[in-house]
Amino acid sequence: MSPVHPVYSAVAARRSCRAFSSDPVDAGLIDRVLEAALRAPSGGNLQPWHFALVTGSALDRLKAGMAQTVQDRPQGDTPDYDIYPPGLVDPYRQRRFEVGEDLYGALGISRDNKIGRLMWLTQNFQFFGAPVGLFCFVDKRMGRPQWSDLGMILQTIMLLFEAEGVATCAQEAWSRYGRTVHDFVGAPDEHILFCGMAIGYSDDAAPANQFRSRRAPLSDVLTRIDD
Ligand SMILES: Cc1cc2nc3c(=O)[nH]c(=O)nc-3n(C[C@H](O)[C@H](O)[C@H](O)COP(=O)(O)O)c2cc1C
Repeated sequence: MSPVHPVYSAVAARRSCRAFSSDPVDAGLIDRVLEAALRAPSGGNLQPWHFALVTGSALDRLKAGMAQTVQDRPQGDTPDYDIYPPGLVDPYRQRRFEVGEDLYGALGISRDNKIGRLMWLTQNFQFFGAPVGLFCFVDKRMGRPQWSDLGMILQTIMLLFEAEGVATCAQEAWSRYGRTVHDFVGAPDEHILFCGMAIGYSDDAAPANQFRSRRAPLSDVLTRIDD
């Protein structure tokens, strides 16, 4: 029996978009999605998320500033957290490797083209051309459970945008310039940046959007205990 609820289609259709058209996204649509996403659950209903939305001339300024910043300071800011644990082990390491190979394969950037790969990574700091950028912050006093709550609302936002025909890409890469972003948006001292999110209309023909990420089968991640 095929699933009937549209949430299935949104989950199935959502993907990380890494090339956007410059078409603007209606401000009312963005507000509708963000308002609706506030229904995301969180442990103890703490709602430990804080967002900054960057559009228009502020986004132009941020992108121009970041183009210069990544050249001047390619090492980034002092990180607030490790994007991946040091010494990432299999199967996680392998999965990360595979998605990288799939992406660079679609882009036609070979493994030994280190410069090409680095250049591509800087696209993160242009929101892959998206006309809307969202940043997600968390209070630095929050712990792992609250960080996991961030995923609740981020996926809710992405699914709602998907339902509106708008593409997204969550971006931990921005945490490499966490302090820079923090200062740009004027976030309070106690907030640290978890990630950014590129939001806009997909450029479906772009090479970066020509692959679909894989998933481990359910049997790899689920233990059934029924006896
Ligand atoms: C919290 C989070 C941060 C991510 N950060 C980045 C990023 O910085 N740059 C990027 O290109 N993709 C980023 N991604 C996208 C993942 O690579 C992607 O979700 C994964 O490969 C699965 O592919 P899919 O989203 O197309 O299903 C991020 C995803 C999540 C959930």
